[in-house]
Amino acid sequence: MNESWHEVVPVHTASRDYDVVVGTHLLDEVGHRMRSTLDADAAFVVSDTNVAPLYLNRVESSLREAGFSVASTAVKAGESHKNLATFGSILEDMATASLTRDSVVVALGGGVVGDMAGFAAASYMRGIRVVQVPTTLLSMVDSSVGGKTAIDLSRGKNLVGAFLQPSLVIADVGCLSTLAPYVFVDGIGEVVKHGVLADEELFDELAAHPLTQDGDPIQLAHVIARNVAIKRDVVGADEKEHGVRQTLNLGHTIGHAFEAASGYALGHGHCVAAGLCHVVRASERLGWSDPGTSNRIERCVAAQGLPTTCDIPLDDVIAQASHDKKRHGASVNIVVPIRIGNVVMRRVSLPELANLIRKGAGSPRP
Ligand code: GLY
Repeated sequence: MNESWHEVVPVHTASRDYDVVVGTHLLDEVGHRMRSTLDADAAFVVSDTNVAPLYLNRVESSLREAGFSVASTAVKAGESHKNLATFGSILEDMATASLTRDSVVVALGGGVVGDMAGFAAASYMRGIRVVQVPTTLLSMVDSSVGGKTAIDLSRGKNLVGAFLQPSLVIADVGCLSTLAPYVFVDGIGEVVKHGVLADEELFDELAAHPLTQDGDPIQLAHVIARNVAIKRDVVGADEKEHGVRQTLNLGHTIGHAFEAASGYALGHGHCVAAGLCHVVRASERLGWSDPGTSNRIERCVAAQGLPTTCDIPLDDVIAQASHDKKRHGASVNIVVPIRIGNVVMRRVSLPELANLIRKGAGSPRP
């Protein structure tokens, strides 16, 4: 199938409305889609050393064909480079390229590139526009949508950042075929999370059929678009995470603790999947979740090739979770599934959180 195919998910937020376009062969259409959406003269593409050799030429050509002047930078790939030094070098390159307030940043890559390029756009000249072109499953279903941008400090992930909704998101599912299998599967953690949050039909499909990177691209695009629509509804209701957006942190309080305790050796989506299973096991044992919910979630997570547990010592997990950046004084908001498609937020004290983490320990599902 060589023809381009796509669907559009419109996003409405308090600060900006924009489209998320999901489909096939879209990298060659980035320029003309931007031209018909934005009034801009120059485009500055931020990519990384993994993605640039694969896709930068195509995106640059498409931008030039659409009449943009184009400059680009490729930062070193990986979370360990999502720091102040790389952020500074992107800003310096933007200034060297003589970008103005009318220019636009194009973030071509996974979540790390999207977060950093978005934050650079939010900061340069007090804010210029960004177009997100996500190339991983995780960034297509989660980080490219909703306007969170950030970099890491030595004390923790995403400690500095800004909200900047993109002006357009273009997700070409063709990019998924070149991902390392671990990186593709990592994105499924957020997909399962969205099913648990808001879409039992999606959840049941995921439990029955593992997503594959070489499967039907149109089916994959449909799944991605459903995920974007779930996130869109939450972000549209609460752009700045004062209320309902916190439910997107389902699985994250414990998942982030796994990630940090592993020294970020484990992927975010793998940790979210294990964190989700951990919290629902605890919640069911505490009588908060409907009986059988944890079994259903564990089966779905395992069917998608993701872990249902993490072998980090519980004391380390408790120590990390107690320092979660989303802590409120001596308590934490934790998201708990009551059943598939229905979650609630509970404010727990740090001792209650420790008890919950101890209660949720389980053995890996074969
Ligand atoms: N990844 C959670 C959020 O965007 O709020």
